[in-house]
Amino acid sequence: MVMSWGLKAILLCILATGILPAVVANVEEQKDADCADFSNITLLQYGRQQAAKLQVQYLLFTRKNIDCASMFSEESLANAQPSLFNVSLPTKIIVHGYRALGSKPSWVKKLAQALLRAEDVNVLVVDWVYSASFAYNRVVENYKEVAVQISVLINQLQEHGCKLESFHFIGVSLGAHVCGFVGTLFEGKIGRITGLDPAGPMFKGADTFDRLDPSDAQFVEAIHTDSDYFGISIPVGHVDFFLNGGKDQTGCIRSRFASMYGYVICDHMRALYVYMSALNGSCSLTGIPCFSYEDFLAGHCLDCGGVLSGTCPIIGLSHNSGITVSPIPKEQKLFLLTTSSPPFCAHHILLQLEVSELDKSADVEMTLITENLATQQRLMLQTDTTVYKRVLAHPSALCEIESIQLKNTGARFYRQGDIHIKSVCLLEFPVVRQEKPLCVNNIDLRRGAPWSHDFVQLCGGF
Ligand SMILES: *[C@@H]1O[C@H](CO)[C@@H](O)[C@H](O)[C@H]1NC(C)=O
Ligand SMILES: *[C@@H]1O[C@H](CO)[C@@H](O)[C@H](O)[C@H]1NC(C)=O
Ligand SMILES: *[C@@H]1O[C@H](CO)[C@@H](O)[C@H](O)[C@H]1NC(C)=O
Repeated sequence: MVMSWGLKAILLCILATGILPAVVANVEEQKDADCADFSNITLLQYGRQQAAKLQVQYLLFTRKNIDCASMFSEESLANAQPSLFNVSLPTKIIVHGYRALGSKPSWVKKLAQALLRAEDVNVLVVDWVYSASFAYNRVVENYKEVAVQISVLINQLQEHGCKLESFHFIGVSLGAHVCGFVGTLFEGKIGRITGLDPAGPMFKGADTFDRLDPSDAQFVEAIHTDSDYFGISIPVGHVDFFLNGGKDQTGCIRSRFASMYGYVICDHMRALYVYMSALNGSCSLTGIPCFSYEDFLAGHCLDCGGVLSGTCPIIGLSHNSGITVSPIPKEQKLFLLTTSSPPFCAHHILLQLEVSELDKSADVEMTLITENLATQQRLMLQTDTTVYKRVLAHPSALCEIESIQLKNTGARFYRQGDIHIKSVCLLEFPVVRQEKPLCVNNIDLRRGAPWSHDFVQLCGGF
């Protein structure tokens, strides 16, 4: 379903004016009285204090206080007492985005914990809820001031011995552009910036000075999941992962009656959830360079040769996303398909069908089956083409596919004849092992008579 930006904006206003606060409050975790937390702000306070100075504060998580944040400021270091912050370790800085309701982001602790499980680092969370709430256009006016305040802290941390290249900023939505502006202030010398669905509205046409771009850090990466509404559609990093094309995510419900969350921000928040899942490291999310999503789906991009010299970038914490070429390419568009729930990793299967020439167009439905998991794809066959390629996301590897089914599903109102299939082949990519495609040849597919074939294969065998 297509929804205009205007309609989404109206829905956001509805959200902001109070239909949902009760629901949101329930979702929020029980607060631990002894731990530091985000500052509260209500619409009323906001209205009264609009003229007041922007409030930015910092929460610190480390492996020593992984469950319980403490407040952080330069004074924490200047104190004689030993601080939890260890200046010899790298520092991750999390920057949230726009908060329609003025509520604290509920995912912050989970992201901090996932980072700490993966690496021994300092995790600083920037709380700028105070300036990030309610009117989006006002928030956009505030974001550079927030970046300036963060840069003051970075300068102080440098004086205590932290190296600029040891900072890794992770910004969600509008937070990505805050990170970008911090990067601009340090002339691209900070180590890394990760933009999680960097905000689109009011930024797409912006100058690179005003938005996240590859010059903002030594390595800039972005994950795009809602580039048709809240996210930005253009590449903004050295590498840009466009998940499922970057617009609509699997499992995000398209019906406006399902839930406000599902309709309004599910796609946008997916970048964050996929990133957290990637930090868990249970499987790898690999991006494949391609000119466009259409070309990717048509099977035109099967490896990471060319500009990346054969190494496919991986979402997560590996140095430069695993890229080994130098200089690192810029604004490299990468595509990958995901599943609809954690850990989101899918196997890319190229399905290639070759048919004998048809005298009428036809419909074929193809299903790949592994245990109780099935992946389906419909193909329209035309009279002027005999070779068809499609890329599918299957939850398990090629070697685990147990069977393939084909169905001749002609339109109800005209008679579709038999289809002679010369070959149907499956290939997993990017190729990791030296796997040959799985092929079945010479199939006559009659209408009303589904065909299926069981594969006998071993994973990791010979
Ligand atoms: C935030 O709100 C809670 C509940 O309304 C309150 O108990 C707490 O004192 C507030 N915290 C701050 C920093 O204002
Ligand atoms: C800080 O980190 C360094 C490097 O990992 C480690 O050797 C040192 O013991 C840490 N300091 C404290 C106070 O934990
Ligand atoms: C990461 O792993 C932990 C524990 O293994 C799990 O509790 C958590 O839900 C996982 N998070 C994501 C986002 O997959």
